[in-house]
Amino acid sequence: MSYAADSGVCLDRILASTDLSGLTKKDATTFTRRLKAHFPRLFEKYTYVYGHQYDCYFHLQKLVEILRDGLKNRKPALKKLDSQRLDSPLWYRDEEQVGMACYVDLMGPTLNDLHDKIDYFKALGVTYVHLMPLYDAPKGDSDGGYAVSDYRKVNPTLGTVKDLEKLADALQKEGINLVLDFVFNHTSDEHAWAKAALDGNKQYQNYYYLFDDRTIPDQYEHTLREIFPQVRRGSFTFNEQMEKWVWTTFNSFQWDLNYSNPEVFNAITSEMLFLANLGCAALRLDALAFIWKELGTNCENQEKAHVLIQAFNCCLQIVAPAVVFKSEAIVHPDEVLKYIDKDECQLSYNPLLMALLWNSLATRKTRLLTSSMKKSFAISDDCTWVNYVRCHDDIGWTFDDAVAHDIGINPFDHRLFLNQFYTGRFEGSFANGVPFAENPSNGDCRVCGSLASLCGLEGALNDNDAQGVDEAVKRMLLLYGITFSIGGIPLLYSSDEIGKLNDYSYRDDDSKKHDDRWVNRIAVTNEDTQLALGETTPSNTAQSASLRVFKGLQQMIAIRKENAIFGQAKTHILETDNQHCFAFLRESTEGEKLLAICNFSEHPQSLSRSILATLKHSASKDLLTGETVEINSSALLLAPFQQMWLLPA
Ligand code: GLC
Ligand code: GLC
Repeated sequence: MSYAADSGVCLDRILASTDLSGLTKKDATTFTRRLKAHFPRLFEKYTYVYGHQYDCYFHLQKLVEILRDGLKNRKPALKKLDSQRLDSPLWYRDEEQVGMACYVDLMGPTLNDLHDKIDYFKALGVTYVHLMPLYDAPKGDSDGGYAVSDYRKVNPTLGTVKDLEKLADALQKEGINLVLDFVFNHTSDEHAWAKAALDGNKQYQNYYYLFDDRTIPDQYEHTLREIFPQVRRGSFTFNEQMEKWVWTTFNSFQWDLNYSNPEVFNAITSEMLFLANLGCAALRLDALAFIWKELGTNCENQEKAHVLIQAFNCCLQIVAPAVVFKSEAIVHPDEVLKYIDKDECQLSYNPLLMALLWNSLATRKTRLLTSSMKKSFAISDDCTWVNYVRCHDDIGWTFDDAVAHDIGINPFDHRLFLNQFYTGRFEGSFANGVPFAENPSNGDCRVCGSLASLCGLEGALNDNDAQGVDEAVKRMLLLYGITFSIGGIPLLYSSDEIGKLNDYSYRDDDSKKHDDRWVNRIAVTNEDTQLALGETTPSNTAQSASLRVFKGLQQMIAIRKENAIFGQAKTHILETDNQHCFAFLRESTEGEKLLAICNFSEHPQSLSRSILATLKHSASKDLLTGETVEINSSALLLAPFQQMWLLPA
């Protein structure tokens, strides 16, 4: 019998014994209709993972009740948004969309204070605000909030759930979407589930991966990657109270949830719906690659991880269809692509573009960027990339070794070079970065640092080097310019927009000093926003540079929003005849075209004009300068770090 037929019988039985009397008539109808539409898929996914367990159907019934309650608790305004989004689901492919990720405490410092920053977001053109995890978390080190103790409680230092809902409303009124984290690979060791487990409760011990001795952990560790080798070796932590080993992929206080237990799936779904019902437009699926463990593998990107995320997506379609998923898979490019699907994650970070932009800045060469984007940029039309340059984490060099080999680059040596370059250990490097997670066993390392410091501003300011300052600003604008134009939602990382330098103060804080990612978690003060908004004037070189960055980004964002070609259009990555230049063509279904070209070097570069032929026009206009470029003369000249956005004139 087919899944659809099976699921029909099952759904009839479940519905017959599910009490819908608490729902309004309209909600009951919506619920039944959506369940009928999505249950076959949910059933298929759920039974694929849990079907062999004797109590699978019991848990499936419970899940349906959780979904019912989710819809019941959804506010009328959000239900209205659900129908709007169902009518025009592709809002995230719009040229209007520009994102920013920020920490409440570093910008607020509370949720209520953030209301005053809405003008700042608007001045820049931001339409999507990702608030970094703001849930209740352990005091001291909480992995920047990624160790959640209670998904339903806001960290008291930031405010309350009410404050969050109020902010979500206020943002929504100004056309700004709220994005929240869904941290579902692990909880903190202070979550009520973990506490019950610590107290010896068997049911809750089953929510996590606990082992009596090292036998099984040792077997797994043969093939696991160490994520934070600087704080603890391996992926397991011995807990004295339980006298058991706990699976802790990240920090010792972040306990991995056991998704082979359907109760965990159900419980987390309930938390997910709570977050969706706060009024967010997207949930960022934190560390999603790690949720399924399979002995003998690296326990990343496993097939069942995908199946589970698809099942979560079904649940969302039933209860809160206005909400989409954003994948945070910082893994091999081929694996990143596998999460991107309308029925899995509609949005995905683009770690490959991010890493290769930095690569091209360091090498001044674009071959690896071009080849890699040719291979991995294209995704389905109903999904979109979230393109970023910096974030709160480290930079890992996650490019495809095979692509590197093909163009004669030794990937191992090249990663070493990039690490040396960005940590300033390479002679002549412009970057001031900090090494992160150096692994003594394999020499692996990643890089931290702010946009400005990695682009050379810190060094240039220290050396009083005016040309260096100018080049650093141009580098920052070049990288962001590509994210604004290449297709997808550009995501600014707050403090980048005003070119703030590394903040080394974390080294004096015991709860932070072992985690160098804090160097790039930087406050945006009132002084900064006043400068940016023109309420004060720059009083030194650093402030002048900050203002140039802000103004430059602001201008590019405005141009992006005025031109539909930056929204729903296809991207073709082009080969150029100059190894320092990168180019792509945007083409809409109506045949509209835009050619973007840019120069990654500090020297002027020329390109043959034949590249302009892709526009099939005799002249074109650069949206960034307003100047017209004629096609007939010999070569096209690009100034150091210049980019052009050319439309047929
Ligand atoms: C994600 C977050 C990172 C965190 C990890 C564990 O990768 O971006 O900051 O440490 O997940 O939650
Ligand atoms: C690893 C993980 C990624 C996480 C990061 C945090 O790269 O793959 O998910 O954000 O570590 O440092």
